[in-house]
Amino acid sequence: MYSFELDESPVRKIVIAGNWKMFKTQAESQEFLQGFLPTLEDTPQDREVVLCVPFTDLNLLSKSLHGSRVQLGAQNVHWEDSGAYTGEISGPMLQEIGVRYVIVGHSERRQYFGETDETVNLRLKAAQRHGLTPILCVGETKQQRDAGETESLIISQLETDLVNIDQGNLVIAYEPIWAIGTGDTCEASEANRVIGVIRKQLKNPDVPIQYGGSVKPNNIDEIMAQPEIDGVLVGGASLEPASFARIVNYK
Ligand code: 13P
Repeated sequence: MYSFELDESPVRKIVIAGNWKMFKTQAESQEFLQGFLPTLEDTPQDREVVLCVPFTDLNLLSKSLHGSRVQLGAQNVHWEDSGAYTGEISGPMLQEIGVRYVIVGHSERRQYFGETDETVNLRLKAAQRHGLTPILCVGETKQQRDAGETESLIISQLETDLVNIDQGNLVIAYEPIWAIGTGDTCEASEANRVIGVIRKQLKNPDVPIQYGGSVKPNNIDEIMAQPEIDGVLVGGASLEPASFARIVNYK
């Protein structure tokens, strides 16, 4: 008699997300989808594809993506369900129109809009309260990296960001700030190493952890070949159907 051992280690989810930042009107978003959706025909089913779009595009994309395999994401969520918070958006508002993911604590929010680890933690809780999966962004500046502070900075971000957060409904993105929008990608092996450090801080080691920062068609295969990297968060290269399609369909 032969006995077979089943490998019971859970497989981590792969999440490929585009972050459109402050790009694309509704008309431009529809033009993008016309080019992009047909490229997903042969995309392996185990890859979650997400588009995190400006608020004004959400309602229309919720309809346009219906029946497709692309999940809808937003780029921010407030910690209160409603209130006098001019310019903000709440969990119930996003949830009502079919949003599934929301980016929280992106370095551009931290840098330009005063986001702190304390408000990031509040926003993460609000996202989870309304059934959204937050994509928490962490990462160091060039100065912090040069000073040898990468690990300590990220550990300290996670310590505050993740207080009382359900690690069963969470994605983390490691986005070194010096690699964002610069074309200066972090070496895949180095991104893999830092993501390993992040994973060691987690109670749930199966949280999908993405890399973000100048992800392009010409470096996606090497990035996704790294054992610790479970996906990517893509800015510029998610704006063109052909380049985002090549990323989603990495080899
Ligand atoms: P780029 O891919 O344009 O470098 O942007 C990365 C990013 O900030 C994704 O959230």
